[in-house]
Amino acid sequence: MIPVITIDGPSGAGKGTISQRVAESLGWHMLDSGSLYRLTALAATLDDIGLDNENALTPLAARLDVVFEPSTRGLRILLRGKDVSEAIRAEEIGMKASKVAALPAVRAALLTRQRDFAQAPGLVADGRDMGTTVFPQAKLKVFMTASAEARAERRYKQLMEKGISASLPALVADLKARDEQDSNRSVSPLKPASDAIFLDTTTMGIDEVTERVLAEARKIYR
Ligand code: DC
Repeated sequence: MIPVITIDGPSGAGKGTISQRVAESLGWHMLDSGSLYRLTALAATLDDIGLDNENALTPLAARLDVVFEPSTRGLRILLRGKDVSEAIRAEEIGMKASKVAALPAVRAALLTRQRDFAQAPGLVADGRDMGTTVFPQAKLKVFMTASAEARAERRYKQLMEKGISASLPALVADLKARDEQDSNRSVSPLKPASDAIFLDTTTMGIDEVTERVLAEARKIYR
């Protein structure tokens, strides 16, 4: 069986950065499952489909024309042939993604696509339900958290670095609203797998968190 490490947790906990570092260090593949929900939300916006229109969103998610293309600046994501790597990261798309992600049929439509990422020599998968639903067989499951304030501050810094203006209190409110939505949906809510390791990264740096996950991985996959 292909080895899988799952990294779940609330928005902005640093899952993406850590998954990328861990995957690079091990030479494994990476799945940013949130990008699939973001792509579905963006495609819905482009096609003028309501975010609660499960009947229309389900085939849209199932047939998403998307290509993940490695480039020197990380992964390039193409939707219908167009580079949307930046566009899907907008806060507004994150919120919309959280809405479409609450629809059971949309989640079901994206399940196989996510599982197909498990390829040799291994996969690091980040999201909300990687350990509970998509890869329940994974031998290493991490649940990564940080206080809402710390997560908002990290997001604020990232946006500033990109020259995008933002308001810190608005970011805190946004993250809390998204946590609430992701934790309270009926299907695959954000919650730790019963066998997950907890990692509170509020006061930890990127290198320290990466090292912790790699240390756990070495115990299992040596
Ligand atoms: O990780 P992210 O912020 O890119 O994810 C965007 C939204 O997608 C998130 O608010 C909830 C949803 N999501 C999900 O429901 N399940 C996942 N495995 C990943 C993301």
